[in-house]
Amino acid sequence: MSASINWDTLGFDAYRTRTVILSHYKDGQWSPIEKTETFSFTFDPFAQVFHYAISCFEGLKAFRQKDGRISLFRPDQNAARMARTADYLGMPCPSKEMFVKMCELCVENNLEFLAPYGHKASLYIRPLLVGMHPQMQLVPYPEAIFAVMCAPAGSYYGAHLRSCAAVIPGDFDRAAPKGSGSYKIGANYAATFRPYKYAHEQGYAELLYLNSSTREFVDEFGSSNFFGIKGNKYVTPLSDSVLPSITNLTLQQVARDFGMEVEKRPVPLEELAEFEEAGGCGTAVVITPMSHIDIKPVLAEPLVSRSFRYEPDGQVGPACTKLYNRIVGIQFGELEDTHGWCHYWLD
Ligand code: PLP
Ligand code: COI
Repeated sequence: MSASINWDTLGFDAYRTRTVILSHYKDGQWSPIEKTETFSFTFDPFAQVFHYAISCFEGLKAFRQKDGRISLFRPDQNAARMARTADYLGMPCPSKEMFVKMCELCVENNLEFLAPYGHKASLYIRPLLVGMHPQMQLVPYPEAIFAVMCAPAGSYYGAHLRSCAAVIPGDFDRAAPKGSGSYKIGANYAATFRPYKYAHEQGYAELLYLNSSTREFVDEFGSSNFFGIKGNKYVTPLSDSVLPSITNLTLQQVARDFGMEVEKRPVPLEELAEFEEAGGCGTAVVITPMSHIDIKPVLAEPLVSRSFRYEPDGQVGPACTKLYNRIVGIQFGELEDTHGWCHYWLD
């Protein structure tokens, strides 16, 4: 079966594919892995997820490579991150083996939605862990559904490797100090919907958040980690409140492989003026260079108090181009995977 999809114009949307892979955790164990094509779950209206947002997710991609092989990119890292997040929420979590197996099954059972090689499109895999237990009390309870779904994915911002604008909102924060910012819980994203609405209305593709306690340091974008390029250095924030990005981890190694110095440390807001290039990195956005980053004391108001300029709109600097080409080249099997990041399981 082949899906009638225009692979070259794909964005990043909740496209309904064929099969969702799932398992329930109840009474101390996971149920046998199921495949469903119905695309609907049954929940008790008192389920934890509806009232207390007990829910977390992951995001990773499958690629059809140049030689026809299919790979998942670093799924073991996503499994480990979900385990960390589930622990934070007091939820049961699938083992690494079960997590990876269900991602593999999701790809295998939706193969017609994975773009042929040559279109810069992939299959985005979305593992989701949702608290099912009906309750009023604010206590963890080990009952959950783990579902792995997918969607064909092209470019997150509507075009591949093109710079876009970001804004630092003076009146919104993403994560509290010592809060949940470094975990991939749905509730972290809920808090970004309103500021994203204001940002998009004004032509900004991204929100760049500062650390909430002092607002003196760069944390991360709403959808991705921050990195800046200064001479031969790749600089990225060290902060307890940012999601440990697997793409960022990968890019740090890629930068080292290019002979660049990697600095993971607090990044003062003022330093935004010193970077030659700045961008976001993540599974969905891959690498997205910023054309400029504005500071707006009140996001919904017109005043821009400061602007940091990098690339003319749409253009991309040399370091971002080099990093992007290397990571995407490895993902599509065009360049040698010297670090063993591509996971193969099919013959
Ligand atoms: N930061 C946030 C807030 C994200 O949602 C994501 C996306 O997953 C990332 C960073 C990048 O993480 P990764 O590279 O593991 O996708
Ligand atoms: C991803 O890149 O996998 C994400 O989860 C980002 C998404 C929240 C936009």
